[in-house]
Amino acid sequence: DPPLRDLADAKGKAIGTAVTGSRLTGTYGEIAGTRFNWLTPGNAMKWESVEPSRGTYNWAEADRIVEFAEAHGQRVRGHTLVWHSQNPGWLTNGTWTADELSGLLDDHIATEVGRYKGRLAAWDVVNEPFDEDGTYRRTLWYDTLGEDYIAQALTAARAADPSADLYINDYNVEGVNAKSTALYNLVKSLKERGVPIDGVGLQAHLILGQVPATLQQNIQRFADLGVDVAITELDIRMQLPATQAELAQQAEEYEAVVAACVAVSRCTGVTVWGFTDSDSWIPDVFEGYGAATPYDENYAPKPAYGGIATAL
Ligand code: XIL
Repeated sequence: DPPLRDLADAKGKAIGTAVTGSRLTGTYGEIAGTRFNWLTPGNAMKWESVEPSRGTYNWAEADRIVEFAEAHGQRVRGHTLVWHSQNPGWLTNGTWTADELSGLLDDHIATEVGRYKGRLAAWDVVNEPFDEDGTYRRTLWYDTLGEDYIAQALTAARAADPSADLYINDYNVEGVNAKSTALYNLVKSLKERGVPIDGVGLQAHLILGQVPATLQQNIQRFADLGVDVAITELDIRMQLPATQAELAQQAEEYEAVVAACVAVSRCTGVTVWGFTDSDSWIPDVFEGYGAATPYDENYAPKPAYGGIATAL
């Protein structure tokens, strides 16, 4: 398997993978460190991971990933600062006034972004703010602070690390649809108001046979707003057991997704959500589905790996 990172480097694009810090040794570490030019911590930077009880911080896994990336000449995408999921119980079970919650949000961002100041290339500042119909998702943040929590988080992140590119990240926003149009309108409004926003993350947790036909068009419309676009969490799942024909189709679909990004200069690149089927969230969350990543459970590259290489 020719390193994808060499192909991506030659094109000036990111090819990244989500990683689990505890696994960064042996074959897993070898592949993560040599085949990819960006890393995203899959869980290690989420609020419940870094501050499991109030005021008690655990940076061990996040530090380990950042140090590994630096040792391998890779860039890091921080993930994620404000989300409705994987928050610590003390935060979600508390009853907070708007002033209190606003203070917690500012402190969290100042602490976490500040810890890695100058070392991370990008942050997924806000994760999954929309529902499928394009209305704001009803979360702790939205219900207490209103939609301005988004501008507040971006402003706090910029203040804590002016050198990191700041993103809003969501799923089912890969094609042109109600949800991506809501995201588009939000980014447009943030830009008009002078709120710091550098990019949009399209997660791209896709299902075999369902790559949106409007992917490149959608990437282009965000780029035309004057922001970067990154495909941040690509995987393409299928019902198990996977057949050879399905793995071949998956290779074509990986190629199509990467090609859509390569075709738009402001699309910075593609990150896969785990490079091996042994480190994928899919079987845990989508019953009966799997085989979603470019390497099998034994670290053998699948046809999908070749699909990505062809597009780069
Ligand atoms: C997933 C992780 O991969 C799992 O290990 C964890 O149990 C749940 O979260 N969208 C996101 C990611 O932004 O943070 C999620 O990651 C997958 C969906």
